Amino acid sequence: MDNQIFNQTVGHPDWPEPDEAAKAHSQELVKLITSNIQNNNGSIGFDRYMGMALYEPGLGYYSAGAGKFGPLGDFTTAPEISPLFSWCLARQCLEVFEITGGDRILELGAGSGIMACDLLSELMRLNALPSEYLILETSADLKQRQYQLLKERQPDVLDRVKWLDTLPSERIDGVVLANEVLDAIPVHKITITENKISELRVTFKDDSFSWLKADISDEKFISLAANRLDDVLGSINDVYETEINLMIGPFLRSISEILATGAAFFIDYGYSRNEYYHPQRTTGTLVCHYRHRSHDNPFILVGCQDITAFVDFTTVAESAHEVGMEVHGYSPQAAFLMSCGMEDVMNTYRNEDQIWNLKLSQQAGQLMLPGEMGEKFKVMGLTRNVPTSLKGFSTGNSIHKL
Ligand SMILES: C[S@@+](CC[C@H](N)C(=O)[O-])C[C@H]1O[C@@H](n2cnc3c(N)ncnc32)[C@H](O)[C@@H]1O
Repeated sequence: MDNQIFNQTVGHPDWPEPDEAAKAHSQELVKLITSNIQNNNGSIGFDRYMGMALYEPGLGYYSAGAGKFGPLGDFTTAPEISPLFSWCLARQCLEVFEITGGDRILELGAGSGIMACDLLSELMRLNALPSEYLILETSADLKQRQYQLLKERQPDVLDRVKWLDTLPSERIDGVVLANEVLDAIPVHKITITENKISELRVTFKDDSFSWLKADISDEKFISLAANRLDDVLGSINDVYETEINLMIGPFLRSISEILATGAAFFIDYGYSRNEYYHPQRTTGTLVCHYRHRSHDNPFILVGCQDITAFVDFTTVAESAHEVGMEVHGYSPQAAFLMSCGMEDVMNTYRNEDQIWNLKLSQQAGQLMLPGEMGEKFKVMGLTRNVPTSLKGFSTGNSIHKL
């Protein structure tokens, strides 16, 4: 059994193996998940599995100590690719400050802390430092890394940065930012055969995790799934598997409760509903990341790899409406960054050093080209009490596609 559990911690034979400490963590986590499965009559929802694999205190991927971000980690996010991303975003924050009079920023899940560093440095250059930069971070390990990076790179503004374990108790006026956070919210896995929606739960059989098809008894779950999959039901000939995020609604409600006036920007890979639940997307959108290898098996490298699902932005927009927020914009990342003033930002930061200039151009390409992050990533802007349009959505706003 132990040897088999160990096998859950390795991936493809050609991939680098986790180190001994990571393997030990992984084995502990596998034991914990399997005992959870046993205590729940032999299966748990995939949302529970994903939640434990990513966030189990001290053991989950985001709670424990591995590298994760950047070239030496598992994946590279936009703020890690280039400061251009955060410098552009800073201009959007500045506009929200000017329109609303609010001057606080709350960043959800701040990763290595690089976005906070680059945003604060650009806002300082623009004479528009926020009165407070709040970071909601549940991982003690990441909090420590963010603190170290900010202390090293932005010591003069460190006193404005505050770390939170939960959403702030008082409402804020300003900006909420979440880059690649929605894709990390645990999802349910479902399957459709002959127009019947069933849940794919996680069981532990023959010493490994596997899927277990089960009827859904929760009426709310059934009605949400049927509603979101309405277009696709009836046009599927074969087996169809996909994900459904039931946490988006409660998540947005909690964000809306703390944003008095201002805007929340969610940046992530995702689609509108008709693209997400497309009849030809028959295996869903789960993506796992391990040392820059992307694959769709969440049952290996438990706790050593990231597990994500694309975002159904139509659901995000509907949930926002339900909690009284306005959907101000939905644009591909390229259009958003361009509208925030990418050209001007690049001109500001170009200098005599041609290597630096070339590097900036290459990074802009990574952020904006359609084959890179430009089209796959979307930016959704949700607002409360913001009467005018926002510059980031002045061109390329695709709200009509939702
Ligand atoms: C892929 S990482 C992105 C990190 C960083 N924003 C970046 O772009 O590099 C996902 C982050 O989302 C955080 N996260 C997931 N669910 C969250 C929630 N409900 N509230 C706040 N952060 C959350 C995770 O802890 C993790 O730090």
